[in-house]
Amino acid sequence: MGEDWAISLKNVSKCFKRYPRPVDRLKETFLPGKSTVDTFWALKNINLEIPKGQTVGVVGQNGSGKSTLLQIIAGTLTPTLGELQVNGRVGALLELGSGFNPEFTGRQNVFFYGRLLGLSQQEIEQRFDDIAGFAEIGDFIEQPVKTYSSGMFVRLAFSVVAQVNADILIIDEALSVGDMYFQKKCIEKMKSLKKQTSILYVSHSITSVRNFCDRAIWIKEGEVEKDGECSFVCEAYEDSFIQRQAQNDAINKQNETNKITKNIDNQEQEVVIREVTTNKSTYLSGEDITITLNLDFIKPIQYYGVGILIRNEAGDLVTLFNTVRDDVVIEKPHEVIKLCIPNNNFTRGTYFIFASIVDDHILYPYDKLDFSANFFVDVKKNNIGIPVAEGYFRADHNWIF
Ligand SMILES: Nc1ncnc2c1ncn2[C@@H]1O[C@H](COP(=O)(O)OP(=O)(O)OP(=O)(O)O)[C@@H](O)[C@H]1O
Ligand SMILES: [Mg+2]
Repeated sequence: MGEDWAISLKNVSKCFKRYPRPVDRLKETFLPGKSTVDTFWALKNINLEIPKGQTVGVVGQNGSGKSTLLQIIAGTLTPTLGELQVNGRVGALLELGSGFNPEFTGRQNVFFYGRLLGLSQQEIEQRFDDIAGFAEIGDFIEQPVKTYSSGMFVRLAFSVVAQVNADILIIDEALSVGDMYFQKKCIEKMKSLKKQTSILYVSHSITSVRNFCDRAIWIKEGEVEKDGECSFVCEAYEDSFIQRQAQNDAINKQNETNKITKNIDNQEQEVVIREVTTNKSTYLSGEDITITLNLDFIKPIQYYGVGILIRNEAGDLVTLFNTVRDDVVIEKPHEVIKLCIPNNNFTRGTYFIFASIVDDHILYPYDKLDFSANFFVDVKKNNIGIPVAEGYFRADHNWIF
């Protein structure tokens, strides 16, 4: 490993033993060969080289191996196979609790943890006021940390890690238990350390990985699924769970369609929604969207309303359109009805269309078709590659100076 490398992993794998019953653990020690033990590879053949000064975000589902990877790099776990080289002093904020003794006061833990991270007694004394000042936990610094809230705990732990002048900073999503004020303060601190420090940052907030890191690694079932430029990896990871959601919803849609078939058998029904389609399956924000409803009128109804609900992947109602609400009066059967949404303001994600034909006071449905169609919206990126919008919707707006 040359001078420019901070971390290098060659074919690193980690195997855990899992004992079905506690007694199996004892059996393995005292009666080798008689125990029932399962082996589980939490990391498989990981190859990584992280240059000095790079900020790397690690993403992946629960249980995919992110914390295991960070603990191996931090030295609190040893790899079962493979080779690890770490070039410099590591400051790690791993799971809550590691490195702190609950019976000690905050002050004592600063010294205890500081020594663990490689600082001398004198160095910690010099930095103590900065550490306590950054943590902002007041008199609690003199109380045993077992009396701390999880937010206070992470405040103190981060403050120590941030003051050790580590060459490699490892943060495992612990920050998320801090309040908004402290999370912001941590991010600002990490930004100031970014230039001279290599940072490995696990987070379930894709936005913070995307905006803060230079590179992202997606860990899937113990293997590197994607590694590279941040927005590329984050997008692939996001798409993977959008796809999973769409698969679930397709099953729901199937169930709903079955219900509709029953409705068609009902001789009393006046109108049936045959089909709902969109003019494209993927839109860029700002493009026009056209939704088309095809209806079959079995009995002539004169006054009715058309409703379209748009839900996101979580099932939340994002917006709705209804002719009755819009004071649009329909006076005869129309077999094809279109809704045009010009210059769409949707943010990135998959959207599901729920259609209904209702009476002219929206009191009851003549027919409805849930999950009748879906579409995907991708958001434009700005000049430096950050999506122009996030959240539920993007209102039209102007900046005035
Ligand atoms: N000490 C252990 N003994 C046995 N299995 C373990 C041990 N530590 C972790 N595992 C298993 O290894 C896998 C990876 O765990 P890990 O904690 O690295 O996941 P993670 O990606 O950090 O998940 P999360 O997003 O929930 O924090 C999991 O299936 C977990 O059950
Ligand atoms: Mg974890």
